[in-house]
Amino acid sequence: MQKKTFITTPIYYANGNPHIGHAATTVVADVLARSLKLQGVEVFFSTGLDEHGQKNQKVIEERKITAKVYHDEIRKKFVDLFKVLNIEYDDFIQTTEKRHIDVVQGVLAKLHKEGKFFKKEDGGLYCEGCELFLEDDQLDAEGMCKDHKRKPTLIKEENYYFNLSKHADWLTKLLNKEGFFTETYKKELLNMIKEGLPDLCISRPKSRVWHGIELPFDTDYVTYVWFDALLNYLTVLGYPNDFTKPKQEFWDTVIHFMAKEIIKPHGIFWPIMLREMGVNPPHKEFVHGFITAVDGSKMSKSLGTGLDPSVAIEQVGAEGLRWVLTKGIQANDVGMDYQSIVNTFNTDLANIIGNAFFRIYSMAKKSFKDSKVPKAAFDARQKKFIDLIKKDVAEILPTGKDINETSQYARSLLDVFRNINVYIDHTAPWKLENVDKKNQELLAILEALKLAFSYAAPVIPQAAAKVKEAIGKCGTVLKDVEPLFIRIK
Ligand code: MSP
Repeated sequence: MQKKTFITTPIYYANGNPHIGHAATTVVADVLARSLKLQGVEVFFSTGLDEHGQKNQKVIEERKITAKVYHDEIRKKFVDLFKVLNIEYDDFIQTTEKRHIDVVQGVLAKLHKEGKFFKKEDGGLYCEGCELFLEDDQLDAEGMCKDHKRKPTLIKEENYYFNLSKHADWLTKLLNKEGFFTETYKKELLNMIKEGLPDLCISRPKSRVWHGIELPFDTDYVTYVWFDALLNYLTVLGYPNDFTKPKQEFWDTVIHFMAKEIIKPHGIFWPIMLREMGVNPPHKEFVHGFITAVDGSKMSKSLGTGLDPSVAIEQVGAEGLRWVLTKGIQANDVGMDYQSIVNTFNTDLANIIGNAFFRIYSMAKKSFKDSKVPKAAFDARQKKFIDLIKKDVAEILPTGKDINETSQYARSLLDVFRNINVYIDHTAPWKLENVDKKNQELLAILEALKLAFSYAAPVIPQAAAKVKEAIGKCGTVLKDVEPLFIRIK
């Protein structure tokens, strides 16, 4: 495995409250980050907010407040949520920060000097929701944007453009590189390339969009929000001035997490921008499906049908939500509502994982002399059981292979706890009359639980830490503990 890994989430639009999708990608990225750290990998993990562009501008205008006041308010909401969810990020970037504006203007000035941009009058149907000019296949029968169900605006204006099509062959090769892009979504991008890549419009006239980064070579324009936002991934690594070897090593191992609706900017614009800048393409791009309503229909911030992560946390707790999202998020869509979140919490965390620990721990506390963890003297069967659990967990942690790994990890963890429960039911230590025998059986199970929880730490870090502290080692006095996860009625 690589010694370093740079993990990124998309930077989220700062035009509203965080919803469950934002929590989902961030939790899954955090689970991978923690798993890699547990395996000795040095990780740099960044997330943040995408603050420019028309979407954000509209909210600021409606609220009649300054951009700064608005961004501070939204930042707090995201930072607070990520804190509750125990997200261990290393950087939280906001695109209105000076360090980022400098990077964007530096890149623009360099590319402009090298003659990479050209000005022309063009236009098309523009969707403010997507912040994109739409192609025909993005419109429904009524001419509405399929994603946002709203009528795009016909716009004709003079702008700066960037040629994409000359990179078609190179990009096709990159996308076909084993492991680079999530298979489920690769074909969509390859088809776009086959159909011909139109020039990318990298500017917006200030008369229409004021909330953006001014082009350093033409003050009548601001930068197209995607050109600005994608560069955040380099800003957090100190590009260009501090982009020296250690930082560059992070760049060369980057894994970009995102959901399926933003594969075009990440899979087409971004690698080409980097190539023009003389920077290596991203290492991997992990694309997951949407959390949808249980009937499979889209839930979205713009449509107002999103699940509120805070409500879910009130119901199942932060670790509960971490678990449900980790298990649910994968390449394909997953349907969720508040009830299904509670159900998954009950079956997995309360019934299987939490219960295994609580009943054995309580029994051991009563049975051990003075509640003190005795010295282990396991027989062959107990040793075999612990070895089996060791084998089960040995290859369980995600290593950054693909987007489905984290969901698989949660499922495999469940299997480990199920195996422990089978052993508990089979050996039924509560029936043993000989106290020493009973205590050794309980101790063997506690050992197995300690091991299993140490491998569950990336997804349920607080529960894992509680278990580690509670069980301790030989001589530890077992204290009263609360159940880890209480079944919700
Ligand atoms: N600002 C851009 C990203 C720029 S990255 C250089 C953006 N922001 S967003 O607020 O719309 O967030 C999009 C991301 O949020 C998705 O790609 C995904 O990571 C997450 N999700 C938003 N809705 C989601 C679901 N319904 N389900 C799962 N994840 C979703 O696009």
